[in-house]
Amino acid sequence: MLNKKVHELLNQQINKEFYSAYLYLDFSNYFKAKGLDGFANWYMVQAQEERDHAMLFYTYLQNENMEVTLEAIDKPDKVFESNMDVLKAGLEHEIYVTSLINDIYGAAYDVRDFRTMQFLDWFVKEQGEEETNANDLISKMELFGSDPKSLYMLNQELSARVYTAPSLVL
Ligand code: FEO
Repeated sequence: MLNKKVHELLNQQINKEFYSAYLYLDFSNYFKAKGLDGFANWYMVQAQEERDHAMLFYTYLQNENMEVTLEAIDKPDKVFESNMDVLKAGLEHEIYVTSLINDIYGAAYDVRDFRTMQFLDWFVKEQGEEETNANDLISKMELFGSDPKSLYMLNQELSARVYTAPSLVL
């Protein structure tokens, strides 16, 4: 039996992760429309990972015999002025998600819920990686984004990203 607050936060996180998937699908759509298929691919893979994150929270609650309540997913409604704006919104979003994971971790810590803390350890590491990836992308865009040939190469590089299932299995 999970603590009420921990349960609520874990359930909310299902929605937040699905929203993340939705947000990255929107980013992918933005780049597809611009003809930057590599960037579109990169965010498509990101969206798939976010869906996996949502399913991990969903499965964790089910495994704990806790109720899962699915809420409406918000509409991604940001309007971007530039390619860089999208990348920066991605980093900002990941920093926000890190804060959500930390909040759940804090709530679990407060009630000595070691199992939830152990489950969340994977997400703590994952968020570190996602922030690094988002930062790297911004650095590359700063360096190469204004030169068409370099942007073409960067787009090619990003087209190579492939989806892999999460290393965490529940
Ligand atoms: Fe599921 Fe990018 O955080």
